[in-house]
Parts: sequence; C-alpha cells; structure tokens
Amino acid sequence: MDLLSFLESKGAEPGLAKLIVALGDACKIIGGELRESLHSKHLGTINATGDDQIAMDVRSDAIIAEHMRACPSVLLLGGEEMAEPEKVNLDGRYSVFCDPLDGSSLADVNFSVGTIAGIYEGEVIGKTGRDMVAALYAVYGPKTTLIVTVKKGVHEFMLIKGEWTLIEESLQVGEAKYFACGNLRACVERADYLKLVENFILNKYTLRYSGGMVPDINHILHKGGGIFTYPGMPSKPDGKLRLLFECAPMSLIMEEAGGASSNGKIPVLDLVINNYEERTPIFIGSKSEVEKCAGF
Ligand code: F6P
Repeated sequence: MDLLSFLESKGAEPGLAKLIVALGDACKIIGGELRESLHSKHLGTINATGDDQIAMDVRSDAIIAEHMRACPSVLLLGGEEMAEPEKVNLDGRYSVFCDPLDGSSLADVNFSVGTIAGIYEGEVIGKTGRDMVAALYAVYGPKTTLIVTVKKGVHEFMLIKGEWTLIEESLQVGEAKYFACGNLRACVERADYLKLVENFILNKYTLRYSGGMVPDINHILHKGGGIFTYPGMPSKPDGKLRLLFECAPMSLIMEEAGGASSNGKIPVLDLVINNYEERTPIFIGSKSEVEKCAGF
C-alpha cells in the first residue's frame, strides 16, 4: 500500500494525507541531496533560533518550503531556520512546524540526521501539543525511513526504489535499559541530574547516544524502550530543544507508541504554546523511565 492510501486507511482526511505525502516527497529530496552533495560544510551563519548553519540546513528549509507552498491545505509554515512562520494559503487548514534538518552538525561526520514535523489544525498559539493532528520524522542514515502518526499508532516506511514502502506497522515502546543522556554539562550545575545519570550507570543501562535527537529517539522506538534526556539547568532553564519543532512532535510519536514524555513536571504534550521559539527540557521514552527522571 502506498503512503497516501495507508494514511487514508488510518483515518487521515485527503488534505492531511496529501500534506504528509508532500512532506515525504521533500524528505526524499533532502535525503538524496545529503548523500550526493557536499552541503555539510559550515556557513559561518546562525539561524533564527541561534544554531550554526550548514549549507544543507538552508537547502532543506527551501525544499520543505517549496513543497508546502504547493500544498493547498497548508495555512502556516514555521521552520527552525525561519524567523517568523509564513502564511502559505489563507484558506489552508493546517499549520506545519518543521525542523528541516535536525542534528545537522553531525552530517559532516556522516552520523544519521533527520527531519521532524508537527501538524496542527489552524493557528497554534494558545494550543498544546495534544492538538496536533499528525507528526512525523525522517531518518537519513544507512536507510532513509519515515516514521509517521496520524494519532492511530506509529508506522514506519522505508525509501525503496524511490517509494515510501511500509515496513512496520504499530511500533511499540515498552521497557528496555538503554539511556541517551544529553546535556551532561548540566551535571556541573545540578546534582540531581548527576545522580540520575549515575543511577543509569550503576544499574547497568547500555549507553546509546549519537548527539542527534532523531536517531537517539529512533533507537528507543526500534529497541522497544529506553530513555532520552535533555534537561535545563540554572543558567539555561529551558534547555536547548524547541517545543514546536522538536519536542512536541517527538512526544506525540512517543505517546502514540505507548511511551511517555515530560518536561520533568508535566507531559510535554500538555505544555501551552506561548510563542514559536520556546524551548523545553525533555525526558522521553519508556513510561517508567520518564517517571524515574521526574522523581530525580
Ligand atoms: O537541536 C539539535 C540537536 O542536534 C539535537 O538533535 C540533539 O539532541 C541536540 O541538539 C544535542 O545538543 P548538544 O549539542 O548540546 O549536545
């Protein structure tokens, strides 16, 4: 079954299904260009949210924008590389918030990188991640894959001969002893995080951390459990990762697969969206591990 028919079979209305297919088409091009160009060199510029840019960040942003502008159901497009969301079609139904190339600083060393997107009906300010109607991420690694939810489970497609081909239906996150602790620098400022990391080490968890949120969370989804953390610290209370472009879509996918996600106090999906750029601490993965993090 092709991606469009699959999404419709999961209850996505045609406008939403076509939008997701358009994002999938953009990801095919981004993946191809990553493989066959030298776009991973640093430009010496920073994006709207303060990250160093590589040429492929700018290129991925343009590829996503081109595909979203051609999609009649898109109302607003927000991108991690964009200063302000763009009004795409005044009579469009959906807002799309996208990190076109997450973890791009890892591209030059040939680690996996990815694209993340969350889709809402209408505007997003004042809403929460629970209002999302769909979320997806693509992984550009040895395989190019697309993980998607339209709130009927989490499903995986693989790019085979230019087509998204369903390879796994209903990915499930249970319990597994893998840890991916980001922002270990926070241990210098907060003893609770140091204690949490020590707890994973002393309980013989296996470290699986690449430094890219997409492959690190993809690991949890494929090994059936584990935990990814990126806390804040007194000098940077909200941490680094963006609510709209990274944390909310990944949290929807994780909850749909049976896992959980929290900012340490409440589920990330319950955070009210006050502005497009906001960041949040995140603890995401197996339910019991997320609870353990909140306890620490
Ligand atoms: O936000 C981009 C990102 O590369 C994430 O994919 C990753 O989890 C995080 O930053 C790593 O942050 P740091 O460079 O602080 O380790």
